[in-house]
Amino acid sequence: MNNVYVIASGKGGAGKSTTTAYLGVELCKNGKKVLLIDMDEGLRSLDIMLNVSSHTLFDVSDIIKGNCNVNQAVIPVKQCPNLYLLPAPITVNSLNSPKGMRLLCEKLSEYFDYILIDSPAGVGKGFKNAVAGADNALVVVNPDTVSVRDGAYVAKLLRESKIKNIRLVINKLDKKLIKKGVFYNIDETIDATSLQLIAVIPNDIELVKSFDNCGNNLYKSPATLAFERFAKRLNGENVPLMDI
Ligand SMILES: Nc1ncnc2c1ncn2[C@@H]1O[C@H](COP(=O)(O)OP(=O)(O)OP(=O)(O)O)[C@@H](O)[C@H]1O
Ligand SMILES: [Mg+2]
Repeated sequence: MNNVYVIASGKGGAGKSTTTAYLGVELCKNGKKVLLIDMDEGLRSLDIMLNVSSHTLFDVSDIIKGNCNVNQAVIPVKQCPNLYLLPAPITVNSLNSPKGMRLLCEKLSEYFDYILIDSPAGVGKGFKNAVAGADNALVVVNPDTVSVRDGAYVAKLLRESKIKNIRLVINKLDKKLIKKGVFYNIDETIDATSLQLIAVIPNDIELVKSFDNCGNNLYKSPATLAFERFAKRLNGENVPLMDI
């Protein structure tokens, strides 16, 4: 099992769910079979982003508690062949079993090329459950002081949880704000987090628009192109971070 990634940030709204969804779609376009696990109990969002919320009957906690089997809870995402979603519970405190998550991910990792676990904000119980099943992490930070400090702290917790491979994703990069000195630049963000960079995603309003077409739109916005590169880099391809 070396294909399970938790997507974490500490700070809310950094772009964990967006990263999970778009990276998942792009990995599938590279021929991979991908499972997304939403661990944000009570505040799940991937089912909406992927347009499958009407198909959610069971969730990840139901599998761990033995209320259903895997096939009943995992939802195929129609518009994106080879992409699957395991939704989070709709109520809080449904899930408190790091050991159950570990066993579940171990089992599921045999059937998928990648498993991406969308962590909730914060570093409490939900974070610990999300991390328990992973052996790799993607830390999503926005290049501002608070987000960067939170990202560095989350990375420390991930290392303590024995996560072997931790990579940095800089999201919502805005060149104008870097020039004005409002945002850190890429080097400053790397230095402040001490993490190895894997992707830079620009601030791009197109990402906020509907996900209906699962990223299959003819127009590729700057952020979509950045996720294309991200997926290839995760797959071990030698692709530059950005189109310079
Ligand atoms: N690169 C980007 N450019 C512009 N908007 C973005 C970008 N990434 C994410 N967003 C927007 O920022 C908001 C927060 O994103 P998202 O829900 O992915 O964050 P999150 O870290 O999962 O939040 P939470 O901690 O609440 O789970 C959303 O409105 C999303 O569309
Ligand atoms: Mg989220």
